Amino acid sequence: MTSRKGRARASDLFTPRRTDRATRKASRRALAEATARARATAGRDRTDEPVVIEAEMPVPVYPASGRPGAASARGGRLKLPAHRMTTAVACGAYPFLAEGGLGAEGIYIGRDVHAEASFTFDPFSLYGKLEGFTNPNVLLAGVIGQGKSALAKSFALRSIAHGYRVYVPCDPKGEWTPVAAALGGTTIALGPGLPGKLNPLDAAPRPDGTAESDWASEVRKRRLLLLGSLARTVLGRDLLPMEHTALDVALDTVVTAAGATHRTPLLGDIAGVLNNPAQLDAAAGTVSGRLGDAARDVAHALRRLVHGDLTGMFDAPTTAVFDPRSPMLTIDLSHLGGSGADTALVLAMTCASAWMESALADPSGGRRWIVYDEAWRLMRHDGLLERMQAQWKLSRGLGIANLMVIHRLSDLLTAGDAGSRGRALAEGLLADCSTRIIYRQETDQLTASAGLLGLTGVETQAISALQRGRGLWKVAGRSFVVQHLLHPHEARLFDTDARMH
Ligand SMILES: Nc1ncnc2c1ncn2[C@@H]1O[C@H](COP(=O)(O)OP(=O)(O)OP(=O)(O)O)[C@@H](O)[C@H]1O
Ligand SMILES: [Mg+2]
Repeated sequence: MTSRKGRARASDLFTPRRTDRATRKASRRALAEATARARATAGRDRTDEPVVIEAEMPVPVYPASGRPGAASARGGRLKLPAHRMTTAVACGAYPFLAEGGLGAEGIYIGRDVHAEASFTFDPFSLYGKLEGFTNPNVLLAGVIGQGKSALAKSFALRSIAHGYRVYVPCDPKGEWTPVAAALGGTTIALGPGLPGKLNPLDAAPRPDGTAESDWASEVRKRRLLLLGSLARTVLGRDLLPMEHTALDVALDTVVTAAGATHRTPLLGDIAGVLNNPAQLDAAAGTVSGRLGDAARDVAHALRRLVHGDLTGMFDAPTTAVFDPRSPMLTIDLSHLGGSGADTALVLAMTCASAWMESALADPSGGRRWIVYDEAWRLMRHDGLLERMQAQWKLSRGLGIANLMVIHRLSDLLTAGDAGSRGRALAEGLLADCSTRIIYRQETDQLTASAGLLGLTGVETQAISALQRGRGLWKVAGRSFVVQHLLHPHEARLFDTDARMH
């Protein structure tokens, strides 16, 4: 070891061969000697008085590989006991750590409350990028007045700037009409005495590259599905095999007759054949006359659409031209009031969605949103659930994202008893939504919600205390609490509280 007064060279610091113990001993001895000399020079005998050491100072030396043994802090495994802390402490310990968000690509929604960052979302840009994000469909649930429709509307409005088109096949409150008007879209208002008419048997234009015969059988399948759904809704039960056959035969008869005159068949034509047992039997080629008898219930069911409370609305050529370039198309069903409105609404919804789906069947139609606002009203009807599920399954192929708005997660459970078809369909819809947005839920709904969505304890607690416009977003297993921010123009346009002020 070498040292000079007041200074040490870098090479002095390293004495590789010297042991740690010997080094410490030598350092202590040198320091004691230097202190004694300094004390003698300063004439101070008391050992507790400080002295300035100006003598040769030994510089502490360390082996080049650091201290050996347990104190080295180099290499080896650090074994610490598990440490637990509350999230409040963790916030203090790691103040700058937060969920990274879903990236900046997409439609602006608002503020990520935990990360204090902007939150954007676009199901099509997330598809294929985010693990577990298997489909673009979204479920939105929350109690009354929490801002579900406002979120859906501003999502629709902002999506249009990204080149999306928006379709609302069922608007039971008519609250989308001003939004469509503001965006230059189209609204078809249906109701007794209104001029709007939709023919649910309209055939979609044949997509390029599809053979004519293949397309004809696809159109036939869709029409049969629609007729079956309508009959089931009115009858409130499943159809018997002979009733299916009757619908089948009646449709073929009507399509053949309509083809001869180059016009689109109407529901009234089908009801006409069903109400004529002799014609039905003749068309089916049965001599026993049983098909005509078996079709009696179905004939009465379809009669409701032709002569009942929905008369005229779905039994005439479509009045609106479907313009695929229109940014938004909504079907306003708010005029379907009166008693039995729920069944009327469901029938209207079935016809309207069938018409809209056939118009949307073009896979080159670009990215589209279909918004099922107030979908909780439709949960008890298997026919509609079936249509929705078919639409859900087609979503990726057609470039369509479905958004379903309900109040409670248990609305899905009202679709039927455990194990029933309705329940299975509703649960299938939930499973096919990679994005679930949960607005505030009532306390008695928390357990059901947590069970259905697999929420953690903290998430469950959070959804009971969310304020208006704030929701828990579960996107393919990742969670965010997002405050939806409305532009003042949007707030004015989406205000559904106007009558309360
Ligand atoms: N993020 C928000 N910030 C401020 N106001 C909002 C926000 N979201 C919604 N609102 C206001 O709250 C009111 C109710 O919103 P909205 O109609 O969207 O609720 P809802 O959940 O769809 O209700 P319902 O279940 O009755 O359909 C509206 O007047 C709307 O302007
Ligand atoms: Mg609403």
